Amino acid sequence: MKVFQHVSDIGPLDEALKEAFNIKQDRYQYERLGRHKTAMLIFFNNSLRTRLSTQKAAMNLGMNVIVLDVNQGAWKLETERGVIMDGDKSEHLLEAIPVMGSYCDIIGVRSFARFENRQDDYEEIILQQFIKYSGRPVFFMESATVHPLQAFADLITIEEYKKTERPKVVMTWAPHPRALPQAVPNSFAEWMRVADVEFVVTHPEGYELDPQFVGDARVEYDQMKAFEGADFVYAKNWSCPGVTLPDRYGQVLDDYHKWMDWTVSDRQMAVTNNAHFMHCLPVRRNMIVTDDVIEAPTSLVIPEAANREISAIVVLKKMLESL
Ligand code: CP
Repeated sequence: MKVFQHVSDIGPLDEALKEAFNIKQDRYQYERLGRHKTAMLIFFNNSLRTRLSTQKAAMNLGMNVIVLDVNQGAWKLETERGVIMDGDKSEHLLEAIPVMGSYCDIIGVRSFARFENRQDDYEEIILQQFIKYSGRPVFFMESATVHPLQAFADLITIEEYKKTERPKVVMTWAPHPRALPQAVPNSFAEWMRVADVEFVVTHPEGYELDPQFVGDARVEYDQMKAFEGADFVYAKNWSCPGVTLPDRYGQVLDDYHKWMDWTVSDRQMAVTNNAHFMHCLPVRRNMIVTDDVIEAPTSLVIPEAANREISAIVVLKKMLESL
């Protein structure tokens, strides 16, 4: 595997899940595979889970790991071609990328949407430059549009906890005071459409996700109706994807106070099939979800985060095998 961006990159999902559960039995069984290989994890944005779980996964595989916080200690990077670099940016990404590639065997990159230009974000211009100029396999650690390591961990968690062969999985938008990216809901939708689940998305009008990710999944604007009989509730905020409202791309459409009844609480959970609650974290309590729901025994936020180590091992293992 040379690039990990979309669900199709991992190959057949049933085989990837089998691999994940095998690794869960013994997460150090491939510790010789990464000997004398180096993973470089490059962060343009903050992280807790992705940084720690991916670092741990690489170490489990016997790899050396270099973590770079671009905004803390590295030269400030210019990303646009044609710019006269007379400002505060001392280095261009087009030199920095091959240099970084020369010190490692596999590169992971986190670079969020900038919300300046929808086309730039959805064309993944930063990550595409890493793919083109690093000379190394590149995996996405949350980009402008996708967060596949998270979606894979979410799927592993659903497989572990499902009580029926084909569970109903509801992804719900929830209120938030700031404009958040669409990467997590995009990837979750993309992966759920391939997984063997009944998938429903619910959000207020204007928050329609890009068709390349949501496809023909059922969209239900009535949140309570969407929750009926759900086995898993996956909550997430996202800003306007600019699909039905192109001029509002990357914006919060209304003051969040208007949408506080979308906060996942016992009221919505009461109409589910005793659903498990899921969220990728970090989560703002009593905005996205109430204390009671996230602390309930049915909440899976901690095992879900723990499975990030497993999804990262599977991905890194596949990349090591392709070197
Ligand atoms: N879920 C997730 O990616 O968490 P971090 O932003 O802390 O890495």
